[in-house]
Amino acid sequence: MQSTVFITGGTGLVGADIIRRLLRDDSVERVIALVRGSKQTALPRLVDSVQKLESAPLEVRMLEKLTVVCGDVTQAHFGWPQQDWLACARRVTHIIHSAADVRFHLPLEDARRVNVGGTRIMLAFAEQAADAGSLRHFAYISTAYVCGDRGGVILEEGDVCLPRFTNSYEQSKWECEQLVREAFADLPATIFRPSIIVGDARTGRTNAFKALYMPLRFIARNLLGGVVPPGDAPLDVVPVDYVSRAVCHVLLSCKGAGHTLHLTAGAARSSSAAEIAVRARLAAGLPGVPDPLPQNASARRDSAGAQVLASFAPYMTCRRDFDDTNTRAALAGSGITVPAFRNYLDVIIGFCLETGWGKRLPQAA
Ligand SMILES: NC(=O)c1ccc[n+]([C@@H]2O[C@H](COP(=O)([O-])OP(=O)(O)OC[C@H]3O[C@@H](n4cnc5c(N)ncnc54)[C@H](OP(=O)(O)O)[C@@H]3O)[C@@H](O)[C@H]2O)c1
Repeated sequence: MQSTVFITGGTGLVGADIIRRLLRDDSVERVIALVRGSKQTALPRLVDSVQKLESAPLEVRMLEKLTVVCGDVTQAHFGWPQQDWLACARRVTHIIHSAADVRFHLPLEDARRVNVGGTRIMLAFAEQAADAGSLRHFAYISTAYVCGDRGGVILEEGDVCLPRFTNSYEQSKWECEQLVREAFADLPATIFRPSIIVGDARTGRTNAFKALYMPLRFIARNLLGGVVPPGDAPLDVVPVDYVSRAVCHVLLSCKGAGHTLHLTAGAARSSSAAEIAVRARLAAGLPGVPDPLPQNASARRDSAGAQVLASFAPYMTCRRDFDDTNTRAALAGSGITVPAFRNYLDVIIGFCLETGWGKRLPQAA
């Protein structure tokens, strides 16, 4: 049965990697991507984000399957006339809501406006598709860090107590999950919780150098001086190709409805921040142990690096292990497995060096 997939966040890392997979999937007839901006800018921006993850130019037959629609997830009906919104909902068989504001420290009301407000609007859209009888599955991309500062084994389901959040991003994503969970009664929906996402494990490709790339950049460029990443707790990192393959497989096979799935590596496949720092330095051709910067060398750089590390400290110091029982059940027989970060960290750093940390990424033709 052919599918029409509607996706938000396609210009981001996760959304773009999902789109390039969907465009190659013969069971997918059309991919409709909601992108902010004007008709002139939305399509090139989306194609550019997807192209950056590809080693060769996107094929015409792939691009022919793609429809870009302009809109904003915080606007009622995406800012469209209601009849257009309803007509689109009636065509859609699968929905992936990946758009979010991922900045950690926005004022809570701003994080809520995009993340919670956007999720509410996407659920209303999904309900229209369900009422029309077209919807088969709704995927919400959450984060494993809705667990806040909880340590120990983090289960996919059954944690009912409100965590203490480390930042407004985590709290807004937790609130989104509550909305999606309430909708489980009416919608075939799945919550996906990735941990920290980096580029493709085989190629190192990424279209953005945010999140973990920020401390990695300081480390691999020897800009941290004597500042050492704190803690020996396992830092859970997953490559984007694992996330996108898992989401596409579960979504299109309509498994996992009514469940939450951890897209995480688990403690055994994770390294501590200190181990990651040593490996990143070696991969960048530096000695494993940093030489302290000379006293007079850029206190400013030191403090910028320390600030970046400080915003990641809660993730580096809390000892936890994400359980992924639901995910393993949903992926059984698919051949999709998560690698240990230590096994592809060199590939990730290699791509960063090759592209000058994003300065020399290929552009869409
Ligand atoms: N990256 C990670 O390490 C990580 C880890 C766990 C979970 N996640 C989750 O995975 C999802 C995708 O993350 P990502 O890393 O791909 O994020 P990203 O690269 O920052 O991309 C965010 C996407 O959301 C879109 N967006 C933001 N506000 C929007 C709005 N009002 N209307 C429409 N689109 C809007 C952005 O569009 P513009 O191009 O117009 O800005 C962009 O396409 C998010 O839900 C995030 O919480 C990410």
